[in-house]
Amino acid sequence: MPKLTRRGFLKAGLGVSAVAAGSARAQDDTSPAPTAPAEDVRVDLSVNGEAHRLLVDADTTALEVVREHLGLTGTKQACGHGACGACAVRVDDTPVCACVLPATALHRTEVTTIEGLGTTEALHPVQEAFLSEDALQCGFCTPGFVVEATAFFDRWRAEHGTAEPTTDQVADALAGHLCRCGAYPAIYRAVQGACAGRFDEGPADRPRYDGLPKVTGAAKYTFDIQLEGQLDGRIFRSTHGHGIVRKLDTSAAEALDGVKAVVPLAAVGNKVRFAGQELVALAAVDHRTLDAACAAIVLELEPLPVLVGYEAALAEGAPLIYPEKKPNKVAPSAAEGPPLPAGWRGNLRGPLTSSLLSRPRKARKVPARLAEEGLVLEHTLETQVQIHTALETHACVAHWESADRLTVYLSTQSCTDSANDIAELFGLPQENVTLRADYVGGGFGAKALVQPHTRACIELARSAGAPVRLVLSREEELVVGGHRPAERMDGLLAVDADGQPAAMNLTALADSGVAVSNNIGLLWRIAYHQVPMHIEDFDVVTNGPPGKPFRGPGGPQAHWSLETLIDEAALELGEDPLALRKRWDPNPHRQRLYGWAEALPTWSGRGQVAADTGRYRRGVGLAGAVWFYLVQPSTECQLTVGPDGIVVSTACQDMGNGSRSVPAWTAAEAFGVTPQEITVRFGNSQYVTGPLSGGSRTTASLAPPVWEACQLAIADLVDFAEAHFGLQDAAAGAGGVQHAGGLLAWEEVLRSAPRRTYTTKRQRDEGGFFIPFEVGGFTVGMSIPGGVQVTELTVDTRLGRVVVDRVHLGLAVGRIRVPPLARSQVEGAVIQSTSYALYEERRLDPLTGVNLTHNLEDYRLLGIGDTPSIDVHFDETPWEHVPSKGVGLSELATIPGLASIANAVHHATGWRPETMPLSMDRVLAGVTT
Ligand code: FES
Repeated sequence: MPKLTRRGFLKAGLGVSAVAAGSARAQDDTSPAPTAPAEDVRVDLSVNGEAHRLLVDADTTALEVVREHLGLTGTKQACGHGACGACAVRVDDTPVCACVLPATALHRTEVTTIEGLGTTEALHPVQEAFLSEDALQCGFCTPGFVVEATAFFDRWRAEHGTAEPTTDQVADALAGHLCRCGAYPAIYRAVQGACAGRFDEGPADRPRYDGLPKVTGAAKYTFDIQLEGQLDGRIFRSTHGHGIVRKLDTSAAEALDGVKAVVPLAAVGNKVRFAGQELVALAAVDHRTLDAACAAIVLELEPLPVLVGYEAALAEGAPLIYPEKKPNKVAPSAAEGPPLPAGWRGNLRGPLTSSLLSRPRKARKVPARLAEEGLVLEHTLETQVQIHTALETHACVAHWESADRLTVYLSTQSCTDSANDIAELFGLPQENVTLRADYVGGGFGAKALVQPHTRACIELARSAGAPVRLVLSREEELVVGGHRPAERMDGLLAVDADGQPAAMNLTALADSGVAVSNNIGLLWRIAYHQVPMHIEDFDVVTNGPPGKPFRGPGGPQAHWSLETLIDEAALELGEDPLALRKRWDPNPHRQRLYGWAEALPTWSGRGQVAADTGRYRRGVGLAGAVWFYLVQPSTECQLTVGPDGIVVSTACQDMGNGSRSVPAWTAAEAFGVTPQEITVRFGNSQYVTGPLSGGSRTTASLAPPVWEACQLAIADLVDFAEAHFGLQDAAAGAGGVQHAGGLLAWEEVLRSAPRRTYTTKRQRDEGGFFIPFEVGGFTVGMSIPGGVQVTELTVDTRLGRVVVDRVHLGLAVGRIRVPPLARSQVEGAVIQSTSYALYEERRLDPLTGVNLTHNLEDYRLLGIGDTPSIDVHFDETPWEHVPSKGVGLSELATIPGLASIANAVHHATGWRPETMPLSMDRVLAGVTT
């Protein structure tokens, strides 16, 4: 047994997924070695009506049978422990989680997978309903939901005919399923509609361009790629949070039969800075061999004190997590770009200040003068780590087709950039690297750029001379998959005697683990730029895994602090919180939204703070939000028209945000045809430069060049049609060429037209951009998008439970390009922000740094039964300086939730939360003191 002491060495003969194993088991080298597989057992079964006879061993799961033995990859694995439902199949018509069902239990059963429910030509009504209601985003959870919903549909129809089930009845049926994209509201609508018979008659609306392959299980994610001779890869990780590698012996692992490559990712003398750090990459013929190989690795670690949390990292005498002379060069960035320069004092980095952030040192002095005659409000608020938790974990398949030609399948949100980075890393010409990301099962900011598992997978494939697939387990994903940093914020607001904001100060400490680049104060600056402000952003580096940008990075935390102070100021001034914001807020977009919000009956009728006195107390809270208008000027579109129709291609990716539908809808509008008549080619780095999906830049980057290419093509096609068909007075019309004799459909024109290709690039906005150059591939446009959220909730003061009943979210982002999908994005954002406010909290073991919330039971996400009713309002006042008249919305929609919920809790109870999430113990403590 290795000694877990400060003096001794840690030794580990670790089993699989050492990280996942948790501290006790992972450090126990007396645990039994993996046993030889038991004898094979014959299983006769029928799958989707086809008989099969298989030989399986006792460890084989039903999921392995359908996916690996039978190649039915529509059934997904997302958690591996029966908590998320992505692997649901019907066994003799009963939905089960295939990931935890032994394959031997399938003997003499009839199994139905997503592929067996309907055909592309004749879908099941539930599949039609999911398409029509857009009850899917990334689609990774969708097969599981659809399979379960069809079973409910059958039961319901048999017992109730076409009566419509309630949302509670649907929630009961689907309670075993999780959707991280937050498609729950649309899933309710779909299942209720299907049961009520509204989709019995066949095809209805299909707003999402790539919806069909997702509801039928045909969509191939990286996890589903199976190449000839493909090996499995895995990363052996540290199970201790801080130490120096003194021995790392892989010789026994390398000697095992079936191990094809071992690539060291660390060396003796290297520092381990978090539990989960990558040490060795391995490739083998199967996962059992990898289990044995990981168990054979000998690791000796000289332990250092593990620093979990602010206090431990800042304590006097705490060891330096980055003892290097230039730690800024070593520490990874938790932001979308490289870390901005900042100084270090021990494990504290910062403050990050600039003239952009502060009117230097001015605001700090103002409150002392104002304390006498005005109002000074202060608070300290704290948020916890929120993990991205995309349902498709990070995954990579690498295939060296020759010594200098590489194809990488990657679950990524940056097709072009990742391909270019890989080419640079491996010294290859860019054209020799093909990156494929046909379908991506969610990202939320965590899947940008090249990450350690990607590099390791490519190295393994080169070393093994065979394709390698490396998919992170759920346990690994919850460690290194990415997270929104924890934040501790000291906020101050001073109001002068005239009731005007006189000063705003914020000191923010972020715990992004070993990563840096806290920069939340900028959002205060752009929200109330007219107010003297002093902002200091610090990073406290700790022995936690590195944070990554998460949907509106810093936005929810910064706005919680800011909007709480404003809410409190309104109370102190005896003013309506919305009226106060109207008076103070310089953002014209939010001003329009305040008008919308004050007309909501729920706002006007909300009553006094803590008006309810019984067990259940109802509250209504308000918060505003701002985010940047980002754009990627390098974005290109290639449009080809001719006998093959209208084809748009670009190396963009769709991670569920609907980006594939943007060119389809844009080109359809330009030509006056339906989106289904446009072919969109995405997810391949060999296409022209596509934008990264991050910072809500995709739509605003992509739609303008698509529109421009269409206009060029249309002009040429009209000329062609005029000459070729001898038309009089020819001009572009909706759906074809309008001429003296009527309308000649585009289909006719294209059939005869020569094939022509147009490549366009994102042009500048009218008046240019706010930042006239690119920073990390993007720039910032003029004007600040605004949002306002009104939340209605109920606090159960006996149990400490908060139930969010209804959310009204208004966004002013200009013209909405694909309305049904934009609504889905906003609903998903509300689900994520509500989940963040109520449930999500990662916990690390303070002794080892090991993640204790390493599964989807312990790391809790909001489920379908917790879904509030969501009312989405788009203020579509056009952004005239933007070619497509509108900008992105995905980040903005997720920002005001935390603050709006906190303000509603205060309105309900008179208690202001100071720590998120609103766990029952915190709420109980708050409302009873
Ligand atoms: Fe449900 Fe993405 S659509 S997880």
